[in-house]
Amino acid sequence: LGAGPLAGKRVIVTSGPTQEPIDPVRYISNHSSGAQGTAIARALAGLGAEVVFVTGPAQVAPPPGVEVVRITTAQQMLDAVQAALPADAAIFAAAVADWRVAEVAGSKMKKTEGALPTLSFAENPDILATISQMKKGRPALVVGFAAETDDVLANATAKRARKGCDWIVANDVSPGTGTFGGSENTVHIVREDGVEDWPRMGKQEVADRLARRIAEALHG
Ligand code: C5P
Repeated sequence: LGAGPLAGKRVIVTSGPTQEPIDPVRYISNHSSGAQGTAIARALAGLGAEVVFVTGPAQVAPPPGVEVVRITTAQQMLDAVQAALPADAAIFAAAVADWRVAEVAGSKMKKTEGALPTLSFAENPDILATISQMKKGRPALVVGFAAETDDVLANATAKRARKGCDWIVANDVSPGTGTFGGSENTVHIVREDGVEDWPRMGKQEVADRLARRIAEALHG
């Protein structure tokens, strides 16, 4: 058995973007690099947790010492998270596509002279809300993220209530903050009993500090 404050605890971490297919060669996705989720998985494993790392196609490699589950779509991510239960905690750092293409073409869509294709969308499952609202077998601690450009704390507080998670890690991603694609982050931990404002720090430092908080919460 491993050592550390999270030894014997099982934690699921989602990370990276999802990809939603249009046809066999095209997809819709987003710019998530997977950096913050990967840093969190590394930090949790470093404290001795058994980590299931459910990741979309990310720019950064998964950390060592975790069980990696690679998925592409939001539905596959939900399936993988549910298959990884039961867990003591679940940290949802992935940038999940809100919509998928309603009818994925079975063969490559052809470019047709004088005609543009139209895409219809269907709503993807909200993984954070689904797991947060489980009636039986819910992880003791469920953490979501909120990237906001305005009214960061008000929006994150509303999101915490709407999703039903325990904590929201909120960050300001307004242009000019340098958070998107940068190596630093300024976050606020929104809990039921109030908000903790953390100073600006590196993303790995955010992850290390969050992992320590998670260890405290699981023992408290
Ligand atoms: O609603 P919004 O996308 O802003 O919420 C962000 C949080 O919800 C993140 O923790 C993200 O991983 C999670 N999420 C999810 N499934 C979705 C959409 C968001 O788990 N379909």
